[in-house]
Amino acid sequence: MGNRPIVIGIAGGSGSGKTSVTNAIIEFFKDRSVLMLQQDFYYKDQSHLPFEERLNTNYDHPMAFDNGLLMEHINQLLEYKEIEKPIYDYKLHTRSLETVKVEPKDVIILEGILVLEDERLRDLMDIKLFVDTDADIRILRRMVRDINERGRTIESVIEQYCNVVRPMHNEFIEPSKRYADIIIPEGGQNHVAIDLIITKIQTILEQKVIL
Ligand code: CTP
Repeated sequence: MGNRPIVIGIAGGSGSGKTSVTNAIIEFFKDRSVLMLQQDFYYKDQSHLPFEERLNTNYDHPMAFDNGLLMEHINQLLEYKEIEKPIYDYKLHTRSLETVKVEPKDVIILEGILVLEDERLRDLMDIKLFVDTDADIRILRRMVRDINERGRTIESVIEQYCNVVRPMHNEFIEPSKRYADIIIPEGGQNHVAIDLIITKIQTILEQKVIL
């Protein structure tokens, strides 16, 4: 691993608390050596499709993601090259026209529902985490977030959860837990697990300085 950044994958169901775990790590390192890549930002561009059609996309299926571009960007960051990260618009269900420049860092956190499902992504990871939170907590969190931040109605959240999110979780996300090195119950609330992960990252970063 020596002279390349380390990659930490954080998977888990929708609303499991992946973002809270990632933010806790980034906050500790005060953004100096850690960057976050959200798999969500690498949903396939759908700007060529009419809005109504974008509503029918299955956003919880592995095929919804442009993992090719994601891999390309991780490989650039692994060579300490900057990338132009896409930005995703959850209200328009497509990629925004703007991108954001991301400078390489020593630690890359790759966060998303299906980051452990793709073998190519797993092969790039040094540490694999799965945030494991009960389904009732996850749907409650998702409902609040989707209504407040993603422009959804309560009816649309319930319908999407029952018809798509839940079956896809059972088919693709939950089985990917077997690839995790560490399973974190209750995500961002689990301060013991977050402390252990931070300590592990610190150890790796110290070794990199010596190497
Ligand atoms: N999604 C959606 N509409 C889109 C694109 C994605 O509703 N146009 C939903 C998918 O259904 C998927 C979810 O976004 O289930 C993925 O985001 P999620 O994991 O819920 O959010 P994070 O903040 O990344 O994770 P966490 O809640 O664990 O912090």
